Amino acid sequence: MKVCRTVADFRAARAGATAPLGLVPTMGALHEGHLSLVRRARGECASVAMSIFVNPTQFGPHEDFTRYPRPIERDHALAEAAGVDLVFNPSVEEMYPAGFATYVDGGGPALRWEGERRLGHFRGVATVVTKLFTVIAPQRAYFGEKDYQQLQVVRRLVADLNLPVEIAGCPVVREPDGLALSSRNVYLAPDERPHATALYRALTTGRKCVAAGERDAAAVRRAMETVLISTPGATIDYVAVVDPVTLEPLERVDGPARALIAARLGLVRLIDNAPLVDLNQG
Ligand code: PAF
Repeated sequence: MKVCRTVADFRAARAGATAPLGLVPTMGALHEGHLSLVRRARGECASVAMSIFVNPTQFGPHEDFTRYPRPIERDHALAEAAGVDLVFNPSVEEMYPAGFATYVDGGGPALRWEGERRLGHFRGVATVVTKLFTVIAPQRAYFGEKDYQQLQVVRRLVADLNLPVEIAGCPVVREPDGLALSSRNVYLAPDERPHATALYRALTTGRKCVAAGERDAAAVRRAMETVLISTPGATIDYVAVVDPVTLEPLERVDGPARALIAARLGLVRLIDNAPLVDLNQG
C-alpha cells in the first residue's frame, strides 16, 4: 500500500493503478463501516484508493474539528489489511493552500436537515469531494448510507457537474444492539451508550408502523418521536419522513420514503436513517 501526502505524489502513483479505480473517501478513525466500503470496492474494482482527510471546511466553528480522532497509524494498518492499494492523506495546507477561494455549494438535497443545522457543512463536503474526485480520478466512489443526506448531496453534485464517477451507496453497519457505527461514537460516555440505541429503535418503530399500514407521515413521525422522548438523556433535533432522493418532507408514505433522525445523547449528536419501505431506493 502506498501512502501519498501530496497531490503530485498521488497523481504519480495513480498513473500505475489498473482501472477501474474505486475510491473510499474517509476522514480516518476507520471502523467496520469504512472497511465494508473497502471490501465492496475490492470486489468490484481492480484498484482501490482511500482518502484520509479531516476536512476543516465541513466543520462549523463550534464543532469537533480539533478533537476529531486521528489514529493515523492504526488507520493505515486497517486500510492495508482490508486491501487498499493507494492512500491519499494530505495536509490541510495541501488541500487548502493560501489563497484558496473556490467552493462548490449544493442546493436541492443539501438545503434541509443537516444543511439547516450545520450551516456550511455540505458546502465543505461538496468542495472536498469535488477536489478528491479531481485528484484521485476514480471510476467509482463508495459512500455509506449512514450519512444518507451526504450521499444524496454527492449524487446530485456528480449529476449536476457531469463528474465521471459512479456513486455506490452502501448499507449502514451497526453494532449488535443497532447503534450505527460512527467515528463519533467514541464521544459517548459509558452511561449514555446503552441509550444510544434509541435512534435505531425509533427507526424500527417507524418501519413497523408503515408495515402495519400507516400512511400518514406525521403519524409515523410521532411514533418515532415517542421512542426518543422516552429515552433518558435523549433530545430530538429532528425526525423526518422524506423523499429518498430530494429529501423533501412527505405527507404520505405511498411509495419510497426514508426516515431521518438527528438526536443528542447528553452532548453527543447522533444521526441515523432507514428506508421506511423495503423498496430498492438506489
Ligand atoms: O463522510 C465522510 O467521512 C466525509 O464527509 C467525506 C465524504 C470523506 C468528506 O470529507
